[in-house]
Amino acid sequence: AILLAGGQGTRLRPLTIHTPKPIVPIFNRPFLHYQIDRLKQVPEIDEVILSLNYQPRRIEEVFGDGSDVGIKIRYVVEPAPLGTGGAIKYASQGVNDPVVVFNGDVLTEIDLAAVIRLHRERQAKATIVLTPVENPTAYGLVETDAAGNIQRFVEKPKADQITTNRINAGIYVLEPHTFDRIPDNVAWSIERSYFPSLIERGETFVAYLYDGYWIDIGTPDKYTQVHRDIMDKRFHARPFSDTPTDASWVSPDARIESGATVDGPCFIDEGAVVKAGARIGPYSVIGRHTHVDEQATVQGTILWPNCRVGSDSVVTDAIVGRHCHLGRNVTVEAGAVIGDKTSLTDFTHV
Ligand code: GDD
Ligand code: MG
Repeated sequence: AILLAGGQGTRLRPLTIHTPKPIVPIFNRPFLHYQIDRLKQVPEIDEVILSLNYQPRRIEEVFGDGSDVGIKIRYVVEPAPLGTGGAIKYASQGVNDPVVVFNGDVLTEIDLAAVIRLHRERQAKATIVLTPVENPTAYGLVETDAAGNIQRFVEKPKADQITTNRINAGIYVLEPHTFDRIPDNVAWSIERSYFPSLIERGETFVAYLYDGYWIDIGTPDKYTQVHRDIMDKRFHARPFSDTPTDASWVSPDARIESGATVDGPCFIDEGAVVKAGARIGPYSVIGRHTHVDEQATVQGTILWPNCRVGSDSVVTDAIVGRHCHLGRNVTVEAGAVIGDKTSLTDFTHV
């Protein structure tokens, strides 16, 4: 499998200034762990190649050679960003077997073995997973015929180009010999060039239709949504897979002082401290060693590790990066995204 994990994560800035998108935390685990868990369910996938460009070292530090996660991991770092197509070609050097390619920012419960089976049965050059969304403009729109052959691929369609709600889910099975059409060492898009070329040349290019859980975590709203979906069990993942509905998950190594209120569903990680009179509201995530002081209220907010929320502050529906310091009586309103190491003085309103 090749995971495309080299993008700059622009839409998640400032969170991605120090943390590349593939390893932004979902609760307390770097995102790619969830994808690797899924790939491990397919015994035929014997190696995961991470295609990297932006801050590759940080990603390598998390996964090493894969022995801790239980699958062999190899890294291919492009000399310069090659786009999705160029990156796949560059990463697949020396690979002759079919490859499963995943955009490094999608979370899904897809049955990958079934996708591979369809690819084989149809003897396809390429198989792509399609999923329905409400608004295709942020994605690649894909038209098929009744037999599931792909007829048209329109990346980031304009409103007047929307003919279907089915989009490219960013999950493919590809035959490496077809990469010969991708030029070396120039930025090249799989969506804008390789897929249209399969259609033009009349090659077998098939769709696997999927309507289970699927999300691209690449914007602040979606990043927040993933946490809510896991807490609401729309996507099944630890530690919420086993908890009762609306339960709060509090690490045994967190300290909730008496007189503090915790309303689930929420997640409070190890070393976190919630002081007397503070309130943690539903859909909050309190990262490792983050402190919430007296009478402060945190609701619907994701606080990364090592933050402090000062007394009497109110933080609502926001995302706060690592090592942030919010003083007393600070108000952070819905939609705010605060980068690592931000300091907000007392009475600041964001
Ligand atoms: N190695 C490498 N090099 N990876 C890259 C590069 C690059 O130059 N550019 C992007 N990537 C990686 C990103 O890190 C991400 O994991 C993946 O490729 C897709 O890039 P995004 O920037 O997230 O694309 P998108 O979300 O706008 O659109 C893509 O995904 C949609 C599904 O979420 C397209 O594939 C759409 O067609 C698709 O619908
Ligand atoms: Mg994306």
